[in-house]
Amino acid sequence: MIIPNLKEAQKRTKNSVQIKTDEYKVSEELKELGKNKLYFIKTYGCQMNEHDSENIKAILEDMSYQETYDMDKADLILLNTCAIRENAHNKVFGMVGRIKHLKETRPHVIAGVCGCMAQEESVVKEIMEKYRFLDIVFGTHNIHNLPNILNTSLAKKELEIEVLSIEGDVLENIPVKRDNKYKAWVNIMYGCDKFCTYCIVPYTRGKQRSRTPEFIIDEVKKLLQDGYKEVTLLGQNVNAYGKDLAVDYKMENLLEDVAKTGIDRIRFVTSHPWDFTDKMIEVISQYNNIMPYIHLPVQSGSDKILKLMGRRYTKEHYIKLYKKIKELVPNAAITTDIIVGFPGETEADFNETLEVVNECQFDGAFTFIFSPRVGTPAFKMTDNISIEEKNNRLYKLNDLINRYSNEANQKYLDKIVPVLIEGVSDKNDKFLFGYTDTMKLVNIEAYNKYIGQIVNVKITSVKTWSMNGKVVE
Ligand code: SAH
Ligand code: SF4
Ligand code: F3S
Repeated sequence: MIIPNLKEAQKRTKNSVQIKTDEYKVSEELKELGKNKLYFIKTYGCQMNEHDSENIKAILEDMSYQETYDMDKADLILLNTCAIRENAHNKVFGMVGRIKHLKETRPHVIAGVCGCMAQEESVVKEIMEKYRFLDIVFGTHNIHNLPNILNTSLAKKELEIEVLSIEGDVLENIPVKRDNKYKAWVNIMYGCDKFCTYCIVPYTRGKQRSRTPEFIIDEVKKLLQDGYKEVTLLGQNVNAYGKDLAVDYKMENLLEDVAKTGIDRIRFVTSHPWDFTDKMIEVISQYNNIMPYIHLPVQSGSDKILKLMGRRYTKEHYIKLYKKIKELVPNAAITTDIIVGFPGETEADFNETLEVVNECQFDGAFTFIFSPRVGTPAFKMTDNISIEEKNNRLYKLNDLINRYSNEANQKYLDKIVPVLIEGVSDKNDKFLFGYTDTMKLVNIEAYNKYIGQIVNVKITSVKTWSMNGKVVE
């Protein structure tokens, strides 16, 4: 039993990070543990968590488990959770309630919670007090140890918790079962050292650890050989890539080397404005396999609030960077994240956020009401804005965002754009769907033969969230 500790998670150690290629092992005995058993995994949160779930699936399949998409049939249920906002918590505990019910009729079912919520001391305490019917809890730093954690829980027949508060090394031999045949997630770094005052990620994911370029390039080359068309380089703050490596090798170098592999499409998330260098913009503009799509969270337009958030840039700096990107990569689509109702945000501060939106006219944005997270500096700041006011601001902001999103999409009407066709649309099986280089969702009237290909599509109609088009042969 190893329980997380918030104070430990808040620290940054000077421990040097090792690259390990043989840390993950499954003993012969455990390889049969899941024989004739089904697992179900539900993933919350960001792309990083999606990718962790792909690792977890492969580990479980190494133990002979097989995947089911029906929770009611599963012998093993895992919730890979997100801690970023309070509502993520509520959703997970709602699911845990369903699992309790399910275990009443299927008592042999093993159920577990992993991911970012499991890294929270307060959540684990709550689980120990109220949800002892769960079987396993493990965190983001020891996914590779899942076979042993599972085995211990099965042997003890009681709740087994193994959550490490401090990150470990970079492990290079964890298997992966990818959800998509054409697009792949590729981790380039783990953790985050930015410590934005509202954000829990630096505590749930540990200090920044970059993977070495050789392993990343190798992974991309293998994906290319396997027929993948697109890679998304993942990190909480990808522009800081390499800053923790012993060699002088940064994000612009990595982008260039990944581009040289010749893979069709390269994306990267998420960019922090502070680390976005001119060299990076140059590289993006020089290689046409680096997609003209940049997610560049601004969070707020008020310098006072940006400072309280610990974002380390000003509104002016953000707008300058935005314009520089647009100048060098003219067709780039730029999206953002915005938080409203941060402690101390006045009407005037909020209006400055609206000003940035008016100035940048984003292609899209994820917008959130500030959610206080235990252990973060903002948790202790006085929150004097009423929930009605927060809702009003969110509503007003979304209205503006949608207007610009629609306007940006309208520019695509009658244009011919490249689309990577991924499959049949969930909503209408007469349509295929895919994304443009600028990450616009397109529904296409076409035949299945195009699935997995990048084809030219003429846009025939446009909505706020998607567009329709026809393949141009
Ligand atoms: N690493 C990314 C952000 C990851 S979290 C970056 O720095 O841009 C995704 C988004 O969730 C953030 O951009 C922020 O807008 C939002 N977010 C994070 N913590 C939050 C909180 N406590 N309350 C509300 N929104 C939050
Ligand atoms: Fe959180 Fe800031 Fe790190 Fe993004 S950069 S993960 S918002 S601390
Ligand atoms: Fe959520 Fe953890 Fe990602 S908190 S946003 S799943 S890094």
